[in-house]
Amino acid sequence: MHDPFCSIGAHRQVPSRIARLRPMTTLAAPTFPSRTQQILDTLRQNGQLKHLQTIEGPMDATVKLKDYGEVACFCSNNYLGLANHPEVVEAGIAGIRKYGAGTASVRFICGTFDCHHTLEARIAEFYGVEASYTFTSCWNANEAIFPTLCEQGDIIISDELNHASIIDGVRLAAVIKKGLLKTVYRHNDLNSLRQKLAEARANPEMTGTIWVVTDGVFSMEGDIADLPAMRKLCDEFGAYLVVDDSHGTGVMGKTGRGTHEHQGLAGTQIDYITGTLGKALGGGAGGYIAGSRKAIDLLIQRGRPTLFSNALPCTIACSADKAIEVLMREPQRVAKLRANVDAARAGIRDAGFEVLQSPTAICPIIVHDTAKAIAMSKRLLELGVFVIGFGFPVVPEGHARLRVQISAAHEASHIKALTDGLKVLRREFS
Ligand SMILES: Cc1ncc(COP(=O)(O)O)c(C=O)c1O
Repeated sequence: MHDPFCSIGAHRQVPSRIARLRPMTTLAAPTFPSRTQQILDTLRQNGQLKHLQTIEGPMDATVKLKDYGEVACFCSNNYLGLANHPEVVEAGIAGIRKYGAGTASVRFICGTFDCHHTLEARIAEFYGVEASYTFTSCWNANEAIFPTLCEQGDIIISDELNHASIIDGVRLAAVIKKGLLKTVYRHNDLNSLRQKLAEARANPEMTGTIWVVTDGVFSMEGDIADLPAMRKLCDEFGAYLVVDDSHGTGVMGKTGRGTHEHQGLAGTQIDYITGTLGKALGGGAGGYIAGSRKAIDLLIQRGRPTLFSNALPCTIACSADKAIEVLMREPQRVAKLRANVDAARAGIRDAGFEVLQSPTAICPIIVHDTAKAIAMSKRLLELGVFVIGFGFPVVPEGHARLRVQISAAHEASHIKALTDGLKVLRREFS
């Protein structure tokens, strides 16, 4: 196929003096197709190439996987088993019947439907805060919050293991708002955070607001931020605390309010909570920011992902609203998830693997090598258990892992299938 960029290098017969001045335009620069092929070939050779597994039915405790049949699913974020809950599904169907296929508009033009207001009021009620605003993903929410709320002279202090959407949101903010400062503290290290806060206060360029941002539950490690201690530090240094609780919402705390509830804080003690509707809360898609009415008003006026991108589809708004209603009505789902988490962690240890002691539903089994993680995941699939192996660049080189995720939808038989599969891996991969 003709590629208009293929011949660029060959046509650049520039004199050597100019070539020296412009080192980026060397004649030998690989073309886009060749460099892309090279990257894909390297991934394949290193056993790091990801394969998209295809599911032929709903997300649940087991899924119908193309080429494998029914397998126990231990890699979805369907923490409360609400993705295929009859009421959640029916709410989505009713939504599409009432509102049609989509909004065909961004929110501020003609894309705000009453179901958006209903959902946003529900999210605010769920966290006990003033207001919330939805986006088509939490990725978008994290790309909206910092560039919109932060200004020149502010500083954002971020945990080094924060989710990629936070990292990119902070980077974007620093590009859009010239003079906005950013720095990173060591993962979950309160001394490092204190040091960064003290440096920020002493920095003459820091003339505005200090923002501290963390995941509630860290998605790759399955550990949690110490929010009470972070709250204290933020109060001491006059900083705002932003928590992305995408993996904590619906999972942590007695009623599933999230990591802050697990640690005895109220929703109002976190200045801004971001989260996803694509995990415990129905699993469809969508994200949100919850916090003060003023900040939400500013996001409506100035948030680029909401000003220039379509609203959350109504069908998803309706099913997510129902999912939160079910969660608020049935906190026993959270209790079942917790019992399953305890049983699964015990089973993983019984199979001879180490797993972090943590109340979260993310149980990483570190195997270091990416190719090994992928091979182990493939073997587990043959045994009827679906667990994904993660390697570089999702996690740092040498930290490859199987990430086991637990759901309230799992029964004892599924957890036994997981444990039995891991025992086979222990024998075959030792
Ligand atoms: C901590 C965290 N934040 C944000 C996201 C993005 O969520 P969404 O799928 O709604 O964009 C994820 C998804 O993996 C996540 O784990």
